[in-house]
Amino acid sequence: MLTDKTVVLGISGGIAAYKAADIASKLTQAGARVEVIMTEAATRFITPLTLRSLTGRPVVTTMWELASEFSIEHVALAEAADIVVIAPATANIVAKIATGMADDMLTCTVLATKAPVVVAPAMNVNMWENPVTQDNLARLRARGFTIVDPTYGRLASGKIGLGRLAETETIIGTVKQVLGRNGDLAGKRIVVTAGGTQEPIDPVRHISNRSSGKMGYALAEAARDRGAMVSLITGPVSLPEPVGMEIVHVRTAAEMKAAVAKATAQADALVMAAAVADYRPKEVAPTKIKKDSAGLTLELVRTPDILAEVAGNFVRVGFAAESENVVANARQKLEKKQLDIIIANDITAVDSGFDVDTNRVIIIGREGEEEKLPLLTKREVADRILDRVVELLNRG
Ligand code: CTP
Repeated sequence: MLTDKTVVLGISGGIAAYKAADIASKLTQAGARVEVIMTEAATRFITPLTLRSLTGRPVVTTMWELASEFSIEHVALAEAADIVVIAPATANIVAKIATGMADDMLTCTVLATKAPVVVAPAMNVNMWENPVTQDNLARLRARGFTIVDPTYGRLASGKIGLGRLAETETIIGTVKQVLGRNGDLAGKRIVVTAGGTQEPIDPVRHISNRSSGKMGYALAEAARDRGAMVSLITGPVSLPEPVGMEIVHVRTAAEMKAAVAKATAQADALVMAAAVADYRPKEVAPTKIKKDSAGLTLELVRTPDILAEVAGNFVRVGFAAESENVVANARQKLEKKQLDIIIANDITAVDSGFDVDTNRVIIIGREGEEEKLPLLTKREVADRILDRVVELLNRG
């Protein structure tokens, strides 16, 4: 969440400026106070009124106007900013800030601020590929600016190439990561698993479960936003890929086990939110199984228990999805798998469990302590779990 954060959103004059409205809107929805600065060229593409309406804040377009709240002190926004984001950044603005120019409110603010700066370029592919632009970006990177690279696709010129402004989610994810880099998990390596595994029956069929991956993804993002280096090991899910972390896609329990073993070789904590299939078909048919009036019997064998079998010295967090005797069953799993914490949830409740954005869980610790949380969003649950992980890590 970006509550209490002041985000200065700089918009420069390219056709992608219209996308800045979406960024301003989503930043505001995430709780940030968004202060927009537009270059004169940006106002040719999108009106200050649009940004003002979305952010509920005055929009700065010039250094010379007395009506604006920030017009007197030209570095006021530079000082107020927790972070400055320039999206879209044209080749021109990149060149100006790389050389320290300060001839308008946006460049002045960038030069004067001590806050981190995120730059999301968008431009014509030839401008992007021009070595002078690449040199300028390299200079900015070397000075600690974070560059959100443009993506490949159709550009305004009709050409296909690199130069499209990164997606809003990518830019906002980067903002959260940069803001959180000195958080209480800074320097820690956290491995999170998410989603259900799929155990193939034949080339077109598999056994799986209803896990959406939402709890695991929320945990991975929350850990990232607190400064952790995150490895997210995910089964097939239909969620957008979060930015700012290593993502390993797996399908089966066996693949997940191998990925977890590799990622935990250096980890401080493992959070197993994945719903690993407990059984897999003994044989995978090499060709599609044809239907038969006699029916079909599958022989199933156990998959590896990843959490119980993974070796290493790190904080271990497991989940227990239960439909009865929730706490007692969860405690048993905590003991059996030698966990530090287990998160128990009752999957029969409609507001927690599969494919919803909320969860109602009980956090159970090794010493038997129980923390019963109210109904929270999965992101809030994630942060409460990570509070406990931080405590354990600090205890050493
Ligand atoms: N887990 C695992 N490997 C498996 C199965 C589960 O690592 N093959 C992990 C899950 O990610 C979760 C915890 O173990 O963190 C859940 O334990 P488990 O006993 O497998 O729970 P259920 O599958 O719910 O067990 P049961 O079906 O026996 O209730």
